[in-house]
Amino acid sequence: MSFDLVFFGGTGDLAWRKLVPALFQAWRHGKLPADGRILAVARDERSDDDYRGFIRERFVEVDSAKRPNDDEFSRFAELLHYRRMDLSQPEHYAGLRQWLDDRGADTVVLYLATAPYLFPVICKQLGTAGLNSPNVRVVLEKPLGHDLASAREINRVVRSAFAESQAYRIDHYLGKPSVQNLMALRFGNALFEPLWRRESIANIQITLAEALGVGTRGDFYDQTGALRDMVQNHALQLLTMIAMEPPSTSDADAIRDEKLKVLKSLRPFTPESVARDVVRGQYRAGTIDGRAVPGYLDEPKVPAGSTTETFVALRTEVQNWRWAGVPFYLRTGKRLASRHAQIVVNFRPVPHPIFPGSSRANKLVINLQPEDGLELHLLATKGSSHGELLAPVSLDLDFDKAFASERVGAYERLLLDAIAGRLNLFVRSDEQEQAWRWVEPIAHAWASDPNGPRPYASGTWGPPASSAMIARDGSTWDEEQ
Ligand code: BG6
Repeated sequence: MSFDLVFFGGTGDLAWRKLVPALFQAWRHGKLPADGRILAVARDERSDDDYRGFIRERFVEVDSAKRPNDDEFSRFAELLHYRRMDLSQPEHYAGLRQWLDDRGADTVVLYLATAPYLFPVICKQLGTAGLNSPNVRVVLEKPLGHDLASAREINRVVRSAFAESQAYRIDHYLGKPSVQNLMALRFGNALFEPLWRRESIANIQITLAEALGVGTRGDFYDQTGALRDMVQNHALQLLTMIAMEPPSTSDADAIRDEKLKVLKSLRPFTPESVARDVVRGQYRAGTIDGRAVPGYLDEPKVPAGSTTETFVALRTEVQNWRWAGVPFYLRTGKRLASRHAQIVVNFRPVPHPIFPGSSRANKLVINLQPEDGLELHLLATKGSSHGELLAPVSLDLDFDKAFASERVGAYERLLLDAIAGRLNLFVRSDEQEQAWRWVEPIAHAWASDPNGPRPYASGTWGPPASSAMIARDGSTWDEEQ
């Protein structure tokens, strides 16, 4: 199968930090279809060789194990091409079409890795230039809009040029191996399904913690904030994977129908419930791994006095028969104690404890990063001379060890899926709009709340109000147990 993959925003951070390195990995793993070209499109004038040199230099920023040696780079670089385009000029799209038509690849993937405000312009021009035939797929990077209205507008324009089945809305968390394993765990094994419900589960915690701050992206981030950057997409997508009903098939739409139902079942926020069940924070200076780090307001390009949140913790419920009454706690933030993403399924305690000592409940921990794996926490006796004293032990599944040779990173997986036409791990427009519908009341309530975000020291787990919120239910965050 032949393919052409075009990156709009070909010199941007996303392209050189994530996309080209992911394609290099796919190539190195022998997974990239052999007959392919990668075309970077951006505003300035450069030759193919200039672009290859630009990428080569940037590879020093990539993990050393994922960097090409000279020979690998020169072979991989043959796939890379560059084209200058002014995205508002119809004749530049006609030129692109010509470049693509000259070869007539089986599949054309157009990846919009630009600022999202350009998506409508680009999609409209692509449609006008006829760059939307059935073999064309358009990949849209998040954030898709900044609220429901803007997301709808983007979707309307995308739909005017492309069929829904041609639109690949990316959420790179869905490409993480442990997220796919979550589906495998639930729908490839009979063991957990009978327990996967309110009768057995006390609460579910989803934590997406980063140790990094906003870095050089202060201007982008300040317009976005943690609610739009992480909750509306990554955290909610994980929640849908946990809470969805078993789909009838593994088809993309069967899965996405079930995820949409979960989003529609989330308890809607009111101004009162936002005040009670949502905590927003903003990091101050602190210490992470023994290193002093500045506060958010002192980061480059962050406007003075900004009230943008860098932390969100919230409590919600999925209002259906399976989950009624089970709290789902979501939490995400920058400059937290460590880089750590996990889902914890806390089971209910035994109804009548007969053993003395520890009465901890079972829990299932799905680790997404830094390592991915799965731990099932059980209680066992130590076999000591003290009688039946229970102590926690865990069954640890290390997927990296079990499947090391097969494993691929999130962007690598998703790019290969887009080339192969597999939509399962991409987000449908109605899911995305429903997620906006659900987070919007939070953003509105904050806009009229003079208190602003609560400060927290870098290197902690966010404002104390986050622990207080969950303590109201008699629970604690996993790291506090
Ligand atoms: C991106 C956000 O979508 O995800 C970033 O825009 C965030 O702010 C990143 O840092 C986190 O991704 P990962 O894979 O490093 O957890």
